[in-house]
Amino acid sequence: MLNLVILEDKEKKQPNRFMEKAKKLAAEKAVTYLQDGMLIGIGTGSTVFYFIEALIKRCQHGLKIKAISSSSRSTEQALTGGVIFEDINLIKHIDLTIDGTDEIDPQFRMIKGGGGALLREKILASCSSQMIVIADETKLVNQLGKQKLPVEILPFASLTTIEHINKLGFEGVLRKNQDGTPYITDNKNYIYDIFYPNLIKTPEEDHIKLISIPGVIETGFFFNLAKKIIVGYENGDIEEKNYYAI
Ligand code: 5RP
Repeated sequence: MLNLVILEDKEKKQPNRFMEKAKKLAAEKAVTYLQDGMLIGIGTGSTVFYFIEALIKRCQHGLKIKAISSSSRSTEQALTGGVIFEDINLIKHIDLTIDGTDEIDPQFRMIKGGGGALLREKILASCSSQMIVIADETKLVNQLGKQKLPVEILPFASLTTIEHINKLGFEGVLRKNQDGTPYITDNKNYIYDIFYPNLIKTPEEDHIKLISIPGVIETGFFFNLAKKIIVGYENGDIEEKNYYAI
């Protein structure tokens, strides 16, 4: 049966002062990759929040970039700070996208969408020459699946879509707001958060199964998109990792 619940408080991420510093470190390092003339993609989330803050400062000191963002939240923050935006419907290509992640494995496969912006994030990353992921150390995993896998679904006939997902052996909950109403993405869709009782053995296969269901718009699996990750550590260290496919 469909399990409609609000995520328990204990499952929500608790801000940790040191981890916030780690996110900020990674975000500030990412800004050093920006160059005049670039069209940049801006992701969504608490790590990207720090990136936007740093971006605003660099723009105020003369950096000339234009931006596209993956969410109304990020757009509002960047616009308020004076960042110049390009119309997404008038461009074919982005130079560099900076985004966070919920999890990233050694092959740089990711789970994203904790902030509900996975569809636009994937579109931006997919049309970018480069994607740099910024993260605190807790996002590094050997195997994906500790976090929920967000799946964006159409509200139309959402119960049948969820039934279809469940029949494939996946279990999850419809994401809800504090007041119990369904969480609505910027694209006016729902998010179904899938829980894996064990870690994810076959992410690529799971993605194909899910995306083949009519009503599923996109999954939070991101493959072959990021080639660089900047990791901030609780102790103040910062590390850059590059992925070279074999
Ligand atoms: C939003 C995302 C975020 O990048 C992801 O949830 C990580 O967020 P945070 O930086 O707050 O941990 O995918 O849809």
